[in-house]
Amino acid sequence: MVGFCCEVLTQLVFLNVAGHTEWLHDALLPSPILVRKQLTGEPLSLPRRKPLASGTLMAAVASLVHFSLCRHSSLFHYHHLRALALSVAIPFSSSAASASSPFSTLSSSSLRQKSKRLPAAAAAAAALLEVGGVKIAKEDVVREGDPTNNVPDTIFSKLGQQLHRRDNHPLGILKNAIFDYFDGNYSGKFTKFDDLSPIVSVKENFDDVLVPADHVSRSYNDTYYIDAHTVLRCHTSAHQANLLQKGHNHFLVTGDVYRRDSIDSTHYPVFHQMEGVRVFSPDEWLASGMDATSYAAMDLKKALEGLARHLFGAVEMRWVDTYFPFTNPSFELEIYFQEKWMEVLGCGVTEQEILKRSGRMDNVAWAFGLGLERLAMVLFDIPDIRLFWSTDERFTSQFSEGQLGVKFKPFSKFPPCYKDISFWISDIFTENNLCEVVRGIAGDLVEEVQLIDNFTNKKGMTSHCYRIAYRSTERSLTDEEINHLQWSVREAVQNKLNVVLR
Ligand code: PHE
Repeated sequence: MVGFCCEVLTQLVFLNVAGHTEWLHDALLPSPILVRKQLTGEPLSLPRRKPLASGTLMAAVASLVHFSLCRHSSLFHYHHLRALALSVAIPFSSSAASASSPFSTLSSSSLRQKSKRLPAAAAAAAALLEVGGVKIAKEDVVREGDPTNNVPDTIFSKLGQQLHRRDNHPLGILKNAIFDYFDGNYSGKFTKFDDLSPIVSVKENFDDVLVPADHVSRSYNDTYYIDAHTVLRCHTSAHQANLLQKGHNHFLVTGDVYRRDSIDSTHYPVFHQMEGVRVFSPDEWLASGMDATSYAAMDLKKALEGLARHLFGAVEMRWVDTYFPFTNPSFELEIYFQEKWMEVLGCGVTEQEILKRSGRMDNVAWAFGLGLERLAMVLFDIPDIRLFWSTDERFTSQFSEGQLGVKFKPFSKFPPCYKDISFWISDIFTENNLCEVVRGIAGDLVEEVQLIDNFTNKKGMTSHCYRIAYRSTERSLTDEEINHLQWSVREAVQNKLNVVLR
């Protein structure tokens, strides 16, 4: 145990000196984390925490040791159970302890004070974003040097863009089509929220929806933490409990969600989800003669099959049993579309505990969550998830309000350029960290990062070779530009990831 503590301590110090705090957290994850499924959302993860002053090294080490001894229970939605003992170097927050407002560090008043202190020109440069009525400055979200923060600049630049609120954008068009379905079938009963701030507490994102303390999705490898108690929501389910507590019985929440992930044409660290919740009172199921859970499950399936037909036409569908911490039973809806089965959404009957905590002892409810990009890519024939962020007129001009399913015409397919990078990894290496480094340098010019070779030599050293595909969705890249990017990537990988280039 002592040996382990010392080793961790060495890593902490080493990484702290090495620079970006993000690597500090991940350095404390002893094993690689799961590969996540794209879809409605995927997973989320981690341990039990209590508030500690950030940067308290020994406490962090203590928490690390504690976590490393915890076994992680079930994963929602995942099929692979690789990350059994997850640890993080962040303070603990027990479900009760982290009840503080997600905006405790971001209150509009403190932000206003900050901007008042700045000279006018500097204030304009440090433009405050306004998201969901909350003013946010960059330094509130990206804090280099703070070991409890792992949000990079590239992610900050996405905050407040709210692609789902643009009526001429494929995501906005799809959102509105789903709204039309619910409005048409439930005569406007569903209240819609699409401007809730993505900055939420750990409690809202995880505890309130019963995500186990040691679930993989809570890790710093998978989730963007602003500080030990505050995250960029990784699913719209983060708003369920609050809205239920406020007395809403039928609601739809649309928003941008954030997850650290690998890089390919269907994965991007920011995407958009829609959440739906419907609460029933006893008279509704009693009249049917069914028990509450069966009644809710039946209604849920009927509602979502109708939604799938509204979006995709007369498709074949099937229900697959699955697991989410917040629903039981839980299902995925798949449709047969373009000659294959495709997962459309995740859903289920809300865990009674969530309703109980919102003061609804006698109710039953259903909930669903769907990923807008995944559906929009199929409906509009959009081949690459990066295109949703494009401001190129040749992309944006192809979509207009109310036109669901207009097929995207690629303006041209630019050639990819592949570059390989090989290195000896250390125990703390994770692919998500590599992807974040690559994105930090190449931004949206990187199309894919793929592991193409992996071996361990006689001395027990493991080498990974990754193939990076550089391709712009808008123009041809020059050799010079790509070589320059690749050299910068090599340098950053070496400096930030504690690996040895080969
Ligand atoms: N929040 C889940 C995810 O991100 C989706 C979901 C929502 C599943 C509501 C069930 C009920 O994967």
